[in-house]
Amino acid sequence: MNQYSLAEAMTDKGNFTVPKLPESNMGFGVLGVFLGLLLEVSTHGPHAVPRTSWRHQDLDLMEFSEPDIFNYSTLLLSERRDALYVGAREAIFELSKKNVTVKNNKVQWTVAESPMVMCTQKGKSKERDCLNYIRVLQAVDDERLYVCGTHAFQPQCDYLNLADFSLDRRPEDGRGKCSFDPSQSFTTVMVDGELYSGTAYNFLGSEPIISRYSPSQSQLRTEYSTSWLNEPSFVFADVISEGGSRADGEDDKIYYFFTEVSVEYEFFGKLLIPRVARVCKGDLGGQRTLQKKWTSFLKAKLVCSMPELNFVFNVVHDVFILKGAERRDTVIYGVFTSQWGNVGLSAVCAYNMTAVEEVFSKGKFMQKATVEQSQTKWVRYNGIPPSPRPGACINNLMRRQNISSSLHLPDKTLQFVKDHPLLEDPVLPVGNRPRLITKDVNYTQIVVERVRALDGNIYDVIFTGTDQGVLHKSVVYEGEVHIVEETQLLKNSESIKNLLLSSQTRSLYAGSDSGVVQSPTAFCGRYLSCGDCVLARDPYCAWDPRAAACVNIFDAPSQKLRKLIQSLNGDADKCPSDLSLSLKDYRRVTVKPGSSAELPCLGHSNLAQVMWKTNGSALTEASRFHLVAEHGLLIYSVAPEDQGQYECWSVEWAPAAGKNFTRLVAGYVLALDLPRRAPPPPPPAGRATAATTAQEAWSTRAAAGDGKPDRALLTSALAPPSFTAAVRFTSPPQTDSSLTPPPPPSSTIKFQPKPHLLPSSNAPRPDSRDPAAEYLQRSNSTALLFLFLLFFLLFLAALAYNCYMRYLPAPCLRLRAALLGSHKSAHQPEYRACEAGLMESASASTAAAEKMTMTERPTQNGSQTAQSVRALRDTGYETEPECGNGQIPSGTAAGDSPTQEKPFDVDCESQPIQFADADEPYC
Ligand SMILES: *[C@@H]1O[C@H](CO)[C@@H](O)[C@H](O)[C@H]1NC(C)=O
Ligand SMILES: *[C@@H]1O[C@H](CO)[C@@H](O)[C@H](O)[C@H]1NC(C)=O
Ligand SMILES: *[C@@H]1O[C@H](CO)[C@@H](O)[C@H](O)[C@H]1NC(C)=O
Ligand SMILES: *[C@@H]1O[C@H](CO)[C@@H](O)[C@H](O)[C@H]1NC(C)=O
Ligand SMILES: *[C@@H]1O[C@H](CO)[C@@H](O)[C@H](O)[C@H]1NC(C)=O
Ligand SMILES: *[C@@H]1O[C@H](CO)[C@@H](O)[C@H](O)[C@H]1NC(C)=O
Repeated sequence: MNQYSLAEAMTDKGNFTVPKLPESNMGFGVLGVFLGLLLEVSTHGPHAVPRTSWRHQDLDLMEFSEPDIFNYSTLLLSERRDALYVGAREAIFELSKKNVTVKNNKVQWTVAESPMVMCTQKGKSKERDCLNYIRVLQAVDDERLYVCGTHAFQPQCDYLNLADFSLDRRPEDGRGKCSFDPSQSFTTVMVDGELYSGTAYNFLGSEPIISRYSPSQSQLRTEYSTSWLNEPSFVFADVISEGGSRADGEDDKIYYFFTEVSVEYEFFGKLLIPRVARVCKGDLGGQRTLQKKWTSFLKAKLVCSMPELNFVFNVVHDVFILKGAERRDTVIYGVFTSQWGNVGLSAVCAYNMTAVEEVFSKGKFMQKATVEQSQTKWVRYNGIPPSPRPGACINNLMRRQNISSSLHLPDKTLQFVKDHPLLEDPVLPVGNRPRLITKDVNYTQIVVERVRALDGNIYDVIFTGTDQGVLHKSVVYEGEVHIVEETQLLKNSESIKNLLLSSQTRSLYAGSDSGVVQSPTAFCGRYLSCGDCVLARDPYCAWDPRAAACVNIFDAPSQKLRKLIQSLNGDADKCPSDLSLSLKDYRRVTVKPGSSAELPCLGHSNLAQVMWKTNGSALTEASRFHLVAEHGLLIYSVAPEDQGQYECWSVEWAPAAGKNFTRLVAGYVLALDLPRRAPPPPPPAGRATAATTAQEAWSTRAAAGDGKPDRALLTSALAPPSFTAAVRFTSPPQTDSSLTPPPPPSSTIKFQPKPHLLPSSNAPRPDSRDPAAEYLQRSNSTALLFLFLLFFLLFLAALAYNCYMRYLPAPCLRLRAALLGSHKSAHQPEYRACEAGLMESASASTAAAEKMTMTERPTQNGSQTAQSVRALRDTGYETEPECGNGQIPSGTAAGDSPTQEKPFDVDCESQPIQFADADEPYC
């Protein structure tokens, strides 16, 4: 099957001038994308599972919110003033950075009567839209913040004096600085007192603008044209400073990140494309051409895809620029999902700043070409662009040519950049693939911190926030990503709207609709054994053998660092072996005969498998036992022979270390509470025997072992803290005779953890955490075949239906006519003629057929509005090449929907038919 697909089309750097989806393969291409997705979702791609899950109620996070105030979505940290500024709906707060529960200041900014009335008259809701959502908080200087709010769809900005935390109350027009609509995406950044923003300039939100407002210079903005910005959704902007140190006198640059509707690909409906755009700080606009417009605006495509799975992540949600000491150490991190959100995959891609600059300074331009009369396409510009290079910042070389500012740029250069803002060369991610792919989450926010671990290496720790209020923390180790933990940051499963990180307080700050949460960057103290601490592979954490505690390395005094145990590949063999466990540490559980017993085993790792041992041998298939949630063991109807010693073991596979690590997590001695009156074998004696046996079993195991006992690390698993944790549960499991008999226990004991926090994640999780199983297994190909057959049947059904409904062109119609033997279309003869012409040029048309683009299809099928995947899927089948015998896509059935955009002027008589979907009147 030819897997030509979007992924290839979008990363196509070949010789074709038009990125395209070849017609003959299109059906398969679309099918390929979908099969690719199914494959990806149904089997295990390179996604990762968080090792540890922290529930909100188990953590003592600092939270801030005030009654009747919502939408805490704008955050600004001030390291100098030790403050976190929060912009919410109609209020601005100053919180303590060390502890966000401490509110130092508050100011309210409400909407007056008349703007409110105007807003409601325009049909906006008084309770929701016509309020003042504070969306811009930027530091002007040490004394003042610049603040903007949506202000009932009439954005306003004002200065906030930090000394007395009061607004100037001399509002300025906020158009172009802040969005009108509180739910519309936008971005701002303040650079040297000038506000750069990406937002909409009008009430309807239909006029996108990237602009600069400066107290001293005139305002600069983008040209209002779809080739500059086409329905963008802005996510981030930041400055990359050259520091004035570069020998070539390069200017500072402001980078914008957004998703927009592509102009260069033709597709069903709207194909979204993630972009990076850039402007120069010193830009002053042009003298004649591009007056008060950017002369340096250029944009390029950001690629985040899995080429081997034909899968493209084409929506960017947030970006973080990790600025290194050297500019070449600067890395741009972005979180992406697919336009087809139902796939449930999120990705993190990283981009080398040097590569981004390379694209802007050397990349080929694209140009709009008019094909025949009306249709335009974007193709590569193959000519030599004018000099100086269009869109380049002013540097010393230009200054030597007497071009000291953009006002001196020649008109030729300016006209060129005005018409060619799009570069053809894409920005490719580091390693040509995502750093991280996660299933069943939608990442909304990202921050990254660079951490030097005890091994002396520097690791980028990636924090990603989801739309369910969960935070993932990941670390890249030797190219492989490891999700250290997931944390339910927000009480409710709502979206994380903003995420900031302070290295100073080692805290993360998350803003959401309902409040602000502060969380430490690591929870080292919650790892209770050395094994757990090391297997966590958290660069912030290390085990202190002296104190028998997992500590944050940034809290530890430097002279102690050498003694700490840390291994980022998770080699828990570095832990001191501690076998000093004794039976008295085992919890005694006494139950009445016939009642059930629950033995909890609260392991911390989602990567571990839980193994229960009784009297020293592993539990196998046994109908008496049943695993309950949270790794507990539930024994139904306890009988005398069930008495004995029970141990919960965790077997964790550490891929980076290439080893299994086995740890004892909890131990119990189960005994029956026999009635006093009938004293058969005295229980204490029985218990003692059991205990002795257990002790023996234990020693034997410790000595001879089973499996790989010597390598298997019996860490300090039963070191007191771990044990306490393991058995720390509130309701005693024993003597629960009131418990209604549960359903028949399953005969197979599956020791599979069911870890995740995500409240809504009822989507299927991978059944196995075994990395060996994470790749396509043979059995899946059967499933795949089945799927394929299913699809094929569906396709046939769709084909038949469409043929019957006369949506499909000539051959079908003829077939239909033959079958139904009636209703000749009035246009049939023309059709035939056209088709005959097509037949003749069949061989020539193969190449031409490749130019068949996707936009034209929906028109052909009379479903122009097709935008959704469903529509895409349908049309994909309907236009499956079979109808045209696999080669000749033929004209629209007569009387079908009139085509709005006539793609090409085709004359059947005078020239070989080039385009399949040429409209009937044209033939
Ligand atoms: C503001 O918060 C409310 C309450 O949580 C929410 O329903 C609404 O969607 C939020 N609005 C915006 C624009 O974020
Ligand atoms: C980015 O690429 C440049 C040039 O290829 C290289 O020197 C630099 O180390 C890379 N930076 C990172 C962070 O990978
Ligand atoms: C730059 O301007 C100076 C003075 O106006 C002139 O002498 C010189 O020839 C110019 N150089 C170029 C390259 O145009
Ligand atoms: C992710 O977002 C998509 C589209 O908004 C939604 O359909 C899906 O349920 C979300 N998934 C999760 C896990 O939140
Ligand atoms: C454990 O050993 C004791 C004593 O040998 C025995 O009575 C009990 O039935 C055993 N328990 C299990 C579950 O095998
Ligand atoms: C590690 O343990 C798992 C689960 O017990 C097992 O399937 C796997 O084969 C083990 N791997 C090695 C290398 O021992």
